[in-house]
Amino acid sequence: MNALITGGAGFIGSHLAEAILDARASRVVVLDDLSTGSRANLAALAGRSDFELVEGDVCDQGVVAPLVDRCEVVFHLAAAVGVRLIAECPIHTIKTNVNGTETVLAEAARHGRTVIVASTSEVYGKNNRPPFAEGDDTTLGSTQSMRWSYACSKLTDEFLALAYHQQRDLPVVICRLFNTIGPRQQGRYGMVVPRFIRQALDDAPLEVYGTGRQTRCFCHVADTVRALLLLASCPEAVGQVVNVGSDESVSIRQLAECIVEMTGSRSDIRAISYEQAYGRWIEDMQVRAPDLKKIRALTGYEPTYTLRKTLEAVIAHACGQAATAQQDRSERRP
Ligand SMILES: NC(=O)c1ccc[n+]([C@@H]2O[C@H](COP(=O)([O-])OP(=O)(O)OC[C@H]3O[C@@H](n4cnc5c(N)ncnc54)[C@H](O)[C@@H]3O)[C@@H](O)[C@H]2O)c1
Repeated sequence: MNALITGGAGFIGSHLAEAILDARASRVVVLDDLSTGSRANLAALAGRSDFELVEGDVCDQGVVAPLVDRCEVVFHLAAAVGVRLIAECPIHTIKTNVNGTETVLAEAARHGRTVIVASTSEVYGKNNRPPFAEGDDTTLGSTQSMRWSYACSKLTDEFLALAYHQQRDLPVVICRLFNTIGPRQQGRYGMVVPRFIRQALDDAPLEVYGTGRQTRCFCHVADTVRALLLLASCPEAVGQVVNVGSDESVSIRQLAECIVEMTGSRSDIRAISYEQAYGRWIEDMQVRAPDLKKIRALTGYEPTYTLRKTLEAVIAHACGQAATAQQDRSERRP
């Protein structure tokens, strides 16, 4: 399998690139503009003859067309991601997510390639009846709250992908990813787990936005990647929307307490408002949990990591990074 991964220098994409190259006789090409991703994420693959990183914009048809031509399957992950980024750069978010997906789908249709589209659990919006199944209604908030622009852009991606499937026979699988965490995820665009771990390791207060009673299910990136690969090789998944994630639920307050305990931190846990956190009002989702019946039936997928095991891996990675940074600093001292 020759695979193109758009957004492959990002958090999930870099793990996916490694998994494909580890498991199969394949070549991987990554297309990424390195806006939130980095070359460092792909350091383990640098120099391999079966791997290539192309720096470019997924909205640029001239760049995308020859890359799609060279592959059999496209994993389309490139997107503007993260509540902070979305709130601060809504034009960039909408353009990247909609135009990028349209470019990939149009080229895939022209070349007859399979596309695995990364969508998001955000599309369930304010639905407050978990677990969310793929056929449930989406309940997005008002356009006055820019937060929904991300969900809306990803919903448009889903409609576009299904439209290409219906009208142009394009083989697509839409994967609605729930919160994914793991080594290499960054906190600076609003991801809660890396932010809490950084704060805990610094003995700084862990800032819980809102009441902390909002619940989420966090999936280890290795489980997410395995699900994407299972779906990519499942003919029955073509033309389908499929939830991907873990169904172990935790409140954000409990998550903060767990991270403080696991890191042995002296941090306090502090509640702050969304206005304080983002400089503007952000409407949050109170619950988010996937119904995994469909992916189980299609592929036999089961998440293998508990939340605690996942947090152990992320904390170990963050401690390793902190130790390397400390060593670099001391080596630079005269
Ligand atoms: N991490 C999660 O919890 C989560 C949850 C739901 C959905 N997703 C989806 O999974 C995908 C990957 O997310 P991630 O968490 O790895 O985020 P990420 O920010 O690490 O990855 C996105 C990648 O896309 C690249 N990119 C952005 N704009 C681009 C452009 N115009 N051209 C080329 N590359 C561009 C970025 O540089 C980055 O490497 C996204 O589509 C996201 O919507 C992620």
